[in-house]
Amino acid sequence: MTTTATMPSGPHPRAEIPAKTLRTDRWWLAPLLTVLGLTAWVAYATVRVFMQKWYFALGDHHRYLTPFYSPCTSTACDPEAAEFGRFIPANALIPFAALSLPFLGLFRLTCYYYRRAYYRSFWLSPPACAVPDGHKRYTGETRFPLVFQNAHRYAFYAAVIISTINTWDAIRSFSGTHGFGIGLGNVILAGNVVLLWAYTLSCHSCRHIAGGRLKHFSQHPMRYRFWTFVSKLNTRHMMLAWITLGTLALTDAYVMCISAGWFSDLRFIG
Ligand code: FES
Repeated sequence: MTTTATMPSGPHPRAEIPAKTLRTDRWWLAPLLTVLGLTAWVAYATVRVFMQKWYFALGDHHRYLTPFYSPCTSTACDPEAAEFGRFIPANALIPFAALSLPFLGLFRLTCYYYRRAYYRSFWLSPPACAVPDGHKRYTGETRFPLVFQNAHRYAFYAAVIISTINTWDAIRSFSGTHGFGIGLGNVILAGNVVLLWAYTLSCHSCRHIAGGRLKHFSQHPMRYRFWTFVSKLNTRHMMLAWITLGTLALTDAYVMCISAGWFSDLRFIG
């Protein structure tokens, strides 16, 4: 096999190694777990998004809307769940949150971390350090179709708007038809929103918006503070990417269980 490392015409040709890799550790485990984790999550989310039921639970002291159906803008949405209007035609193939899901999908799909994860695990490009690429040619992200990965910076702005809507949902979840209350669902929705903000703000595009294009931080103390905060979060971006996949699924599953009546909400107040 000829790789960029072994190309004879390269400036510093390296020894031909007949073995596929000299690594003896379980380098394949991380890509394998990534494939399993992402496939399972996408399968769950796809089923739930098109299920079109068990997405909203309104009680005396709670009002839970799953993030997979927020904002609920289909004409088929429960009127109580549709705080931003109902104008998207009802159709089995159109998710109730068709306004936000494409942008959220774009935000995650073009995320720097997820790119690394699925390039390595699904495309084997390369699957791990010191393991050859699964493809003969490398064209990078400068031409079609991967040049569209650059849309990430714009998807970030959409993600900020959607996180704001999710925050509104979490605040609204504390009141039902008879007023204020606190239950386990509130804790789950609020926790999910805090982590969604942590993931969104830890975005590399956000870090660039906060501190990029500046020559002197000393003249921009507020931006410097924000950039420092975002930079700290940014070091945990991969962890937050996975945690928020988990909290999104957990939040949705909890709302589904309450909405379907499989068990009742654990109440603390009200
Ligand atoms: S880099 Fe991951 S969300 Fe922006």
